[in-house]
Amino acid sequence: MSNAVSLPDLAPLRDWFSSYCNSFRSTDLELQRNFDLKEEHTRNVCRDALLIAHGMGARFEMLAEVAALCHDLGRFPQFRDYHTFKDSESLNHAHLSAQVMNQHHLLDFLPAEERGCIEVAVRVHNAFLVPEGLPALTADLLRLLRDADKLDIWRVFIEYFNAPEDERASGAGLGFPDLPGCSAEPLAAVAAGRMVQLATLKSLNDFKLLQVSWIYDINFPATLRLIRQRSVLEQFRTMLPQDREVLDVVAQVERYLDAKLRDSAD
Ligand SMILES: [Fe+2]
Repeated sequence: MSNAVSLPDLAPLRDWFSSYCNSFRSTDLELQRNFDLKEEHTRNVCRDALLIAHGMGARFEMLAEVAALCHDLGRFPQFRDYHTFKDSESLNHAHLSAQVMNQHHLLDFLPAEERGCIEVAVRVHNAFLVPEGLPALTADLLRLLRDADKLDIWRVFIEYFNAPEDERASGAGLGFPDLPGCSAEPLAAVAAGRMVQLATLKSLNDFKLLQVSWIYDINFPATLRLIRQRSVLEQFRTMLPQDREVLDVVAQVERYLDAKLRDSAD
């Protein structure tokens, strides 16, 4: 039996993305730094999505790359118009990504069913939890996109935090003040094995805890292995306040990660 649908070439879509990024070029250094951040982030999410999707079939790998390439299109007009990546102070960037995707007919090269799956995955990739009852392909693409996105947001944040203050892309810290210690609510959430809610954050340190708590939301064993290889948790531990209660919850997440890695190796 022949392969009914041949694999589309993504080169035109990749080229479109480059010219889309160029269309936002600005002489305002602050704006350009944040656009560069999202362009690099998108390219890394594509790479990591492919790493995670490896072995899940050529067609799925192609769809994973398409979803990754499109997932943050809305970040560019968001930062241009609102000077923030904080959705609560601007708009839902994932909805805007889906809108840009449709306006430019980016998915017209795909069959309607696959197009629909990618649209939903992009549209809800930033939801607190993966919605129930999604079709299998949509759910798989969404879970994979969320994993790949987290991997690179960690990279962005770690680089942001370790850069001199005048070289930081302002959007990456979401504007949280750098106060000492961590707040009770985020600490309690991590201790209870739950993801931290964005609305409970009061400081940059709380934001670090929120990112540590994402480890509870990882879907694929390949992502867990990348977290370990890239020493994500170790790097967050050194960036966090060295308080007993903070180190305790980080150790707890570490045990969770170890157990998940052991389970997935069986
Ligand atoms: Fe993203």
